[in-house]
Amino acid sequence: MLTQKIEIAPSILTADFGALRSQIVEVTTAGVDRIHLDIMDGHFVPPLSFSTEVVTAVASATTLPIEVHLMVENPLKYIEMFSKAGASTHIFHFEAMQNLDSCQTVIQEIKATNSSPAIAISPNTNIDSILELIQDIEQVTVMTIEPGWGGQKLRSELLSKIIDLRRITSEMNLPNFNIEIDGGVKKENIQQCISAGANILVAGSAIYNGNMKPMNAVEELRIAINNSLKK
Ligand code: DX5
Ligand code: ZN
Repeated sequence: MLTQKIEIAPSILTADFGALRSQIVEVTTAGVDRIHLDIMDGHFVPPLSFSTEVVTAVASATTLPIEVHLMVENPLKYIEMFSKAGASTHIFHFEAMQNLDSCQTVIQEIKATNSSPAIAISPNTNIDSILELIQDIEQVTVMTIEPGWGGQKLRSELLSKIIDLRRITSEMNLPNFNIEIDGGVKKENIQQCISAGANILVAGSAIYNGNMKPMNAVEELRIAINNSLKK
């Protein structure tokens, strides 16, 4: 039984950027737990997204922790600048690295900036690839979509990675290890995400979709979380 708090981490990829500050303030007031910022360099994934200036602007609008999801080819280049801009967790992609040694170099650099190290794995990466690094990081982000775009459908066949990871980290006596799910999380599949063992739920288009106010969307997600925990 999971004893960690189930966290909601809004991803602003589909937010209204003309009203960025109020969109951040609104989810902060609604009681989310951290802000998830998707950084894309146009190489690791085709789109370009946010610079350090956007991270600074978000940090000035909230007191919540900010995590940067680095969908970039060379994470080492960006860690210090995003830490200075206000990120307290850096999530780098295993697929961007050559080997476990280069992962360790990135992890040490993240720790050197007093930030928390986390690794993301894309759909085609098996959890076996990163098991040796678990002791040195605080979080794994399991992608349940191809990275690069918000608004895709969660691929539920990938939830087995979360189940395996939760079992393995429990066996390693790491009950507070963070397992984040990123991609297609909606109120309709929250039960599946939580029962698989995820404790941080990234939610982009579920919160920022133009159909309802982000505040109301967060409330619906929280209700779905509470209902799942009762079962
Ligand atoms: C995609 C990003 C996600 C995305 C989530 O590469 O990593 O964080 O914005 O958006 P939804 O919740 O719409 O899948
Ligand atoms: Zn993300």
